[in-house]
Amino acid sequence: MHRAVYLDTSSDLEVVSTEHEHGLGHWTDLERLKRLDHPERLALMPHAPILAALDLDQGMHVADIGAGLGYFAFPISIAVRREGRVFAVDPSPAAREELKRRVQSAKVHNIIVQDGTAARVALADRSLDRVLWHALFHELPNLDQSVAEMARVLKHGGLFVVADWLPGASEWGPHQEERWPRSKAEKLVSQSGPFRTKEVFEPGPVTWGIVFERV
Ligand SMILES: C[S@@+](CC[C@H](N)C(=O)[O-])C[C@H]1O[C@@H](n2cnc3c(N)ncnc32)[C@H](O)[C@@H]1O
Repeated sequence: MHRAVYLDTSSDLEVVSTEHEHGLGHWTDLERLKRLDHPERLALMPHAPILAALDLDQGMHVADIGAGLGYFAFPISIAVRREGRVFAVDPSPAAREELKRRVQSAKVHNIIVQDGTAARVALADRSLDRVLWHALFHELPNLDQSVAEMARVLKHGGLFVVADWLPGASEWGPHQEERWPRSKAEKLVSQSGPFRTKEVFEPGPVTWGIVFERV
């Protein structure tokens, strides 16, 4: 099993993780990851509704968990401006390597690519204004632990935006049996951590969306 030790320089919080690569399936394959760049995704999963739900402001600190190749990390980095930070967390070495390459080539200075999982991130308690899980919920093996981890890193009043595949919505995406109905996902989050539903929304034709507030 891969073992990684990494340091969050903003908080001096050291996190030791042992669960990497194990259970990642196809997300260790760069060719598979590059499907996340498919131009049709922009119609199926438009940026604007998710960015509106995040209600971003200049200077905010935001975590994009399961960031992949940065589909949302880049637009979020523009919204929070130079003084803001985007922590792009992903356990896949292939995703992190490619995302780091893209961040460097685009000369973006406020995206920090980090190793980690939703259940364990190298970020300090109550350090974030916003957290995004986009197309991640159905991937997670330990949802209650992952929701509790988001409660740890979010400030009180911070927003946790979750969007995932609608059951039956399209032939693209995860197998039907892996998809969660919105109401079931909402119940799981509110039972696993100090979150209240602020808003439910429709991010696009194939996904549901929920904005939770950290209480
Ligand atoms: C469907 S992709 C979504 C990527 C990005 N959010 C997007 O919408 O383009 C799922 C991503 O979650 C990552 N992932 C898988 N298991 C994870 C976990 N336990 N915690 C955090 N991320 C995970 C994968 O490596 C992959 O990059």
